[in-house]
Amino acid sequence: MGNTMNGLLMALALLCLTINFREIAACISTERDALVAFNTSIKDPDGRLHSWHGENCCSWSGVSCSKKTGHVIKLDLGEYTLNGQINPSLSGLTRLVYLNLSQSDFGGVPIPEFIGCFKMLRYLDLSHAGFGGTVPPQLGNLSRLSFLDLSSSGSHVITADDFQWVSKLTSLRYLDLSWLYLAASVDWLQAVNMLHLLEVLRLNDASLPATDLNSVSQINFTALKVIDLKNNELNSSLPDWIWNLSSLSDLDLSSCELSGRIPDELGKLAALQFIGLGNNKLNRAIPRSMSRLCNLVHIDLSRNILSGNLSEAARSMFPCMKKLQILNLADNKLTGQLSGWLEHMASLEVLDLSIRGALPDWIWNFSSPMASLNVSMNNITGELPASLVRSKMLITLNIRHNQLEGYIPDMPNSVRVLDLSHNNLSGSLPQSFGDKELQYLSLSHNSLS
Ligand SMILES: *[C@@H]1O[C@H](CO)[C@@H](O)[C@H](O)[C@H]1NC(C)=O
Ligand SMILES: *[C@@H]1O[C@H](CO)[C@@H](O)[C@H](O)[C@H]1NC(C)=O
Ligand SMILES: *[C@@H]1O[C@H](CO)[C@@H](O)[C@H](O)[C@H]1NC(C)=O
Ligand SMILES: *[C@@H]1O[C@H](CO)[C@@H](O)[C@H](O)[C@H]1NC(C)=O
Ligand SMILES: *[C@@H]1O[C@H](CO)[C@@H](O)[C@H](O)[C@H]1NC(C)=O
Ligand SMILES: *[C@@H]1O[C@H](CO)[C@@H](O)[C@H](O)[C@H]1NC(C)=O
Ligand SMILES: *[C@@H]1O[C@H](CO)[C@@H](O)[C@H](O)[C@H]1NC(C)=O
Ligand SMILES: *[C@@H]1O[C@H](CO)[C@@H](O)[C@H](O)[C@H]1NC(C)=O
Ligand SMILES: *[C@@H]1O[C@H](CO)[C@@H](O)[C@H](O)[C@H]1NC(C)=O
Ligand SMILES: *[C@@H]1O[C@H](CO)[C@@H](O)[C@H](O)[C@H]1NC(C)=O
Ligand SMILES: *[C@@H]1O[C@H](CO)[C@@H](O)[C@H](O)[C@H]1NC(C)=O
Repeated sequence: MGNTMNGLLMALALLCLTINFREIAACISTERDALVAFNTSIKDPDGRLHSWHGENCCSWSGVSCSKKTGHVIKLDLGEYTLNGQINPSLSGLTRLVYLNLSQSDFGGVPIPEFIGCFKMLRYLDLSHAGFGGTVPPQLGNLSRLSFLDLSSSGSHVITADDFQWVSKLTSLRYLDLSWLYLAASVDWLQAVNMLHLLEVLRLNDASLPATDLNSVSQINFTALKVIDLKNNELNSSLPDWIWNLSSLSDLDLSSCELSGRIPDELGKLAALQFIGLGNNKLNRAIPRSMSRLCNLVHIDLSRNILSGNLSEAARSMFPCMKKLQILNLADNKLTGQLSGWLEHMASLEVLDLSIRGALPDWIWNFSSPMASLNVSMNNITGELPASLVRSKMLITLNIRHNQLEGYIPDMPNSVRVLDLSHNNLSGSLPQSFGDKELQYLSLSHNSLS
């Protein structure tokens, strides 16, 4: 009986041992050598590689091996803040699937050419790692790459002479080359059009050359969800292909020197949550078809030359946008009034109309239950009108950080939150303020007596 029990326990113990042994894959010695050589030439000021000792490199921090083959498949050194030399011996990790060196500081050296040898690589994150120089065209050999992030806003600049290498990365779903210097890449749009699986395209602040976005007539990248090209002097009109991207949720083409109008086809982008077309030269009216974009959370059409009567358009445009939080229409040539639509926009947190000059009286004429108005951080000048007291439903009023002058008039009794701070208001508070049930009152940074 005792013997049988012992035998059973022994067998169990053995089983556990083999299971454990299998779970921590052993390290392949040539790959260990590659990592040791890497460790020798890299500098690790924060001591993040202190666990790199012992035979089994698969247990070192940031290193993961395949349970099946024992090969190193993942080197995740993102945020390890390494510097020094990247030893070419690293190319010995021939089965690498994932390489992350983001947030290091390699002092402006070019991206190593040997990274193009990692044939199995699917994730490559070299963002904000202090690389400089020219992108090695060898990266175009990474035909399995699904994720590529070379974005880098530091003091070193990565340049690409063309986009030939990008056009070969046909498995890409995510591409971020923001803050690179891409002025010579006149073929960028044609190259990106080869990436038929692409979902995220970020090329903001990349000195892209002037590009007629309409120069591709047929598109491959129909899966795009995010386009961020802001801060490039594209000098184009809005391209027709954008309206075919039915999955698009984020469109940021702010500060792109866009001209022409926003066409009615905008209404086809039903998945849109963010539209940023600020600081361009877009003209004519905001298309009424926007009324179909019920998922919008953030609209920025500021600093354009959009015109038309907002009060007419707005009545049909905004009712379905129940999630809208930020509406920035500042600095356009829009006319009209805020009543009749604004009061129905329940989620609106930031309304930015950046009214220059005197505050028009109508802004206070809320005929219906406008409960909260936030025109903080605007450039509103002039005086608060005495008619404000008639806005009987107003609960929250935030006019913080403007340039209002004159006295504070009486407020409706409904007001609970009042922020008039950072203006140039003078005089004293109306006596009636003693009777109000204010929960929050801020009047700081004014010239009150
Ligand atoms: C890695 O480098 C550190 C610091 O130079 C050293 O202490 C450690 O022994 C090295 N590890 C291996 C496995 O070579
Ligand atoms: C790379 O590492 C950073 C820092 O840990 C992380 O934020 C980022 O998501 C990683 N990249 C990928 C592709 O996983
Ligand atoms: C890798 O890329 C370079 C430069 O684009 C090219 O000359 C070379 O033939 C490629 N190697 C392989 C194995 O495809
Ligand atoms: C679409 O992509 C395929 C290969 O990915 C390419 O052969 C074709 O030329 C592309 N079409 C256009 C219009 O660029
Ligand atoms: C921008 O477009 C205008 C008119 O289409 C043209 O006259 C101008 O030269 C272009 N600017 C650049 C930098 O391409
Ligand atoms: C947009 O889609 C329509 C039909 O769905 C198609 O005829 C047209 O060619 C597409 N436009 C582009 C630029 O791909
Ligand atoms: C804008 O439209 C409203 C409603 O139709 C009208 O009352 C108002 O006079 C118009 N304002 C201007 C400046 O055209
Ligand atoms: C605002 O409402 C008051 C009272 O209803 C009215 O006398 C005034 O003319 C209105 N002002 C504007 C600009 O509509
Ligand atoms: C108003 O807008 C400011 C600036 O965008 C923001 O900080 C604040 O949270 C908003 N909401 C209220 C209720 O003041
Ligand atoms: C307010 O005016 C200043 C100076 O004219 C300008 O720099 C700033 O961008 C303006 N703010 C807004 C929100 O328009
Ligand atoms: C504030 O108002 C006073 C007059 O009431 C004026 O002299 C002063 O220039 C104003 N300050 C600012 C910053 O607008």
